[in-house]
Amino acid sequence: MTAMAMPIVQVLHMSGGVGETSYANNSSTPKKVMMRVKPILEEGVNKMYCTNLPTVMKVADLGCSCGPNTLLLVWNIIDIVHETSLRLKVETPTFQFFLNDLFGNDFNSIFKSLPEFYHTLKQDTMCLINATPGNFYGTLFPSNSIHFFHSSFSLHWLSQVPNLLGEEAKIRDDDKGNVHATSMFPPSYAKQFKQDFKQFLRSRYMELVPEGGMHLTFLGRYDTSEYISMPGLILMALNDMVSENLIEEEKLEHFVVPIYFATLDEVTEILKEEGSFFSVERLESVKLSWDGSSLDEEGDKSFKDESERAEFITRSKRSVFEPICKAHFGEGIMDELFLRFKNKVIQFLPKLVDPVLVISLTKIA
Ligand SMILES: C[S@@+](CC[C@H](N)C(=O)[O-])C[C@H]1O[C@@H](n2cnc3c(N)ncnc32)[C@H](O)[C@@H]1O
Repeated sequence: MTAMAMPIVQVLHMSGGVGETSYANNSSTPKKVMMRVKPILEEGVNKMYCTNLPTVMKVADLGCSCGPNTLLLVWNIIDIVHETSLRLKVETPTFQFFLNDLFGNDFNSIFKSLPEFYHTLKQDTMCLINATPGNFYGTLFPSNSIHFFHSSFSLHWLSQVPNLLGEEAKIRDDDKGNVHATSMFPPSYAKQFKQDFKQFLRSRYMELVPEGGMHLTFLGRYDTSEYISMPGLILMALNDMVSENLIEEEKLEHFVVPIYFATLDEVTEILKEEGSFFSVERLESVKLSWDGSSLDEEGDKSFKDESERAEFITRSKRSVFEPICKAHFGEGIMDELFLRFKNKVIQFLPKLVDPVLVISLTKIA
């Protein structure tokens, strides 16, 4: 894989609609994570709410995609604030939610589910939902206007595919088939992530009200030679297809995945560098298998065997990565590619573990 600098904000999107391979139908892994880190979300929302007590609470979900998780987050935040308002004996605020994603996101499917969602809310809850399409690595809102930002499973996407530094391109070419982290995440990707994440933090700092809060979860990586990443495994399946002449080698060489999984140390370092902007309330890494179960659960018991578990993982990864693979290789090979991907998942199942980074920040007034 070699790379050219390419902005992704015009092209990236998850699989839209509500079909079998859509993100909406295959996003239960982020949902499991969302439920697991809900106590941290609760802590962050309550800290902001009790300090500011806004009458209109403005919340933005960045990289909302489409599907049940988008409105689950809205529901969770309303629920948290409602409980706290009862406890404090204050009136529940009016909520204004801004759902953000890139321009190609299937916002229409969210809009269509809104009447039913509004219907499920408590009668006295006033909630207004808006869409804010745009790139979260830049300005999205006026200064000092948002009380709380949420973003889950989005910040590992880079704003653009970086140009590989000279030596890196060579290492990658010599390293074909290596699924381990070092060749998947070279220094130019780390540099791009750092630049993007700093830009993200600065933009949000401007947009948050004083003492506004932010809850971020995104995929990280372990800095060990054992660690296998999702882009690594897809590359492995693609390499097999090249060796069987199902894909041209040159086509694969120009395939890029604009994603970077940072280590906890890298993120800690960036937050230190931007330290004057935010107080870091939480910075944690949660170890999860690719089906979203925690390791102490020894995998999700709802799967009857490894094949079923691998099928679940494959569908969930396909709903995220298919658009980008399809745009490069064409629709014709997608079923074959993800069948091979599933076989790789079965082969490496016990090793398919990611750290999910969870960060809770408060804007310093
Ligand atoms: C895997 S989905 C996560 C969806 C949802 N938050 C969840 O947890 O289920 C990642 C989303 O981030 C969006 N995204 C990636 N880069 C973005 C950017 N620069 N600006 C806005 N959205 C972005 C993608 O389009 C995608 O819909």
